[in-house]
Amino acid sequence: MGKVVEMNHPLIKHKLTFIRDKNTGSKEFRELVKEVAMLMAYEVTRDLPLRDIEIETPITKTKSEVISGKKLGIIPILRAGLGMVDGMLSILPAAKVGHVGLYRDPETLEPVEYYCKLPTDVEERELIVLDPMLATGGSAKAAINFLKDRGATNIKLVCLIAAPEGIKVIEEAHPDVDIYVAAIDEKLNDHAYIVPGLGDAGDRLFGTK
Ligand code: PRP
Ligand code: URA
Repeated sequence: MGKVVEMNHPLIKHKLTFIRDKNTGSKEFRELVKEVAMLMAYEVTRDLPLRDIEIETPITKTKSEVISGKKLGIIPILRAGLGMVDGMLSILPAAKVGHVGLYRDPETLEPVEYYCKLPTDVEERELIVLDPMLATGGSAKAAINFLKDRGATNIKLVCLIAAPEGIKVIEEAHPDVDIYVAAIDEKLNDHAYIVPGLGDAGDRLFGTK
């Protein structure tokens, strides 16, 4: 079973409070989502392998560590996942970015794919899937299925807020995938929105509706 890592950091908790607040407008919402994604990049990359290289400081020659091993890919689930890309890229500038377009059908609540463009060497990369909301888990489960169908074997899922229901769905469908969340909320409501949540992440990011 993959691990579930809930962020336990005062900066993330503080910023998440204002992300949740319905009086926070789109500009500030976008900035805060970007900042939390940047902070989460620190935790998500904690187990990246290192190797020694030789360098010369102004004082002496020495060995020092650099990141080695797998190349990274950042995969936002459109649309709302886009809000987390810049924050991740500010810490991981060499990562390639692939996009998976999914929306949740409001009637059936089932995810519908409308776009998929990935780095060509997706099977060689460690992929970080981004979506602010893990509600029923249907969208993230489908996105991870698409990535696996295209050869990906090393996948992490990064969300701002998750419902316990969504976590269970990913754990059952993709037990190899570690999940990183800023917060795990109480439940889903009758419309499959996360409670207390933050509302509709895509609409709040892009000022729609
Ligand atoms: C939202 C959210 C997730 C999905 C979560 O996207 O960004 O992708 O719902 O719900 P689930 O876990 O029940 O699948 P939405 O379908 O509203 O599309 P959008 O990002 O284009 O707004
Ligand atoms: N999608 C959202 O944007 N918010 C929710 O609470 C659930 C799904």
